[in-house]
Amino acid sequence: MRRVVITGLGAVTPLGVGITHTWPRLLRSKSGVLSTHALGPKFSALPSQVAGLVPAGRKDDGGWTADEWVVTAGERRRMALFAQYGMAASEMAMRDAGWVPWREGDLAATGVCLGSGIGSFEDVYETSVAFEKGGYHKVSPLFVPRLLINLAAGHVSMRYGLRGPNHAVTTACTTGAHCIGDAARLISYGDADVMIAGGAESCIHPLAIAGFARARSLATDWNDRPSEASRPFDKDRAGFVIGEGAGVMVLEELEHAKARGARVYAELKGYGLSSDAYHMTAPRADGDGPLLAMKAALRNASITPEAVDYVNAHATSTKLGDAAENRAIKNLLLGEHGKRNASAINISSTKGAIGHLLGAAGAVEAIFSVLAIHENTLPPTLNLDTIDAEEGFDCNYVPNEAQQHKVDVALTNSFGFGGTNASLCFSRYQ
Ligand SMILES: *[C@@H]1O[C@H](CO)[C@@H](O)[C@H](O)[C@H]1NC(C)=O
Ligand SMILES: *[C@@H]1O[C@H](CO)[C@@H](O)[C@H](O)[C@H]1NC(C)=O
Ligand SMILES: *[C@@H]1O[C@H](CO)[C@@H](O)[C@H](O)[C@H]1NC(C)=O
Repeated sequence: MRRVVITGLGAVTPLGVGITHTWPRLLRSKSGVLSTHALGPKFSALPSQVAGLVPAGRKDDGGWTADEWVVTAGERRRMALFAQYGMAASEMAMRDAGWVPWREGDLAATGVCLGSGIGSFEDVYETSVAFEKGGYHKVSPLFVPRLLINLAAGHVSMRYGLRGPNHAVTTACTTGAHCIGDAARLISYGDADVMIAGGAESCIHPLAIAGFARARSLATDWNDRPSEASRPFDKDRAGFVIGEGAGVMVLEELEHAKARGARVYAELKGYGLSSDAYHMTAPRADGDGPLLAMKAALRNASITPEAVDYVNAHATSTKLGDAAENRAIKNLLLGEHGKRNASAINISSTKGAIGHLLGAAGAVEAIFSVLAIHENTLPPTLNLDTIDAEEGFDCNYVPNEAQQHKVDVALTNSFGFGGTNASLCFSRYQ
């Protein structure tokens, strides 16, 4: 059996550009959620005026400056922002892994699987408006390539000359997890030895926020206190906070990684996928059926529920979603005979600090889960001030402060509109 390990990590998040900026800030309980007022009057007219924004600034300070990553003006014109974030995260992950191949065989054995939930909202909007006003001649020849979701993967392949699989997934908020899971399968089945895998999103656009607000998904009560708006598992949680960024990991076949003496962060042990087959946006009402995706991931990993040390929950800070996931995790992890006490189950939702990165969320959260194992640290759930006891929230949710604890096995969940669920199981490499 071909085992898959993680050898490189890269991220662009509201907490900073680069893992070396994002992770320490997460552990110091910093928030990347800000007011959207500075973005203009269209934003200020919306019911939800907060977002997880990638900070502007220089690379060395953990800020985003496009031309430090997408060097030529021509490239910047060809790449929408989500693709630029994906490119930056891929570059960081590849350098972190020490894998920037140039030999023909290595290039053919390396692929990319990088998706996005929505792609470039901005381009659709601007071009629609321009077309309506000015007609055909107002449509840029770069419109279609900037729009297409798989072009983030395409640009990464082109920049590095990678000739293996060139793939992208788009399954709403499950995109990032599906990209990583599918990429691992491609390695298992021998389609590639190394995969650059993850998700990217940049849809901090007034129309996107309007759409999610109309779907009644967003937090609207915290416009004057942005850093408190995303509060998974808290009694006062009232919707998610939209966020942007990208997360990418280098997945590598174990023998390949060993042969080149690569550092191994963790092993990707299991991947599970399932569907609710129930409703466009709401979780199943019965909710108490254990999550099929988590069960499948553990089955694939040959790991028992009792061995799971940490769950990075999807929990987006919505009333129904957090409660349904909590029930499912408890059902699964408490064990058939209640062998475990709920307070010994460790769950956190890092969305408290960065908001919901939609198509990038699963990838960024997979990175946090891998780091939890690598550094034996549970990242905190920000803004968890009042536990909702009535809803059965009696696990350890790592409220507000990180905890040091040995983590050998971590699960991370992602659920998306359309009822699509996935779970990834990582373990310490032995
Ligand atoms: C999918 O996730 C939702 C949200 O937590 C959960 O209610 C549902 O049971 C899950 N479904 C499956 C099939 O795993
Ligand atoms: C888990 O999935 C991998 C493919 O990624 C496969 O090679 C392996 O046999 C599966 N293991 C089990 C126990 O299902
Ligand atoms: C959860 O974390 C606490 C403290 O960090 C620890 O004592 C406990 O054993 C952990 N539970 C599991 C199942 O690992």
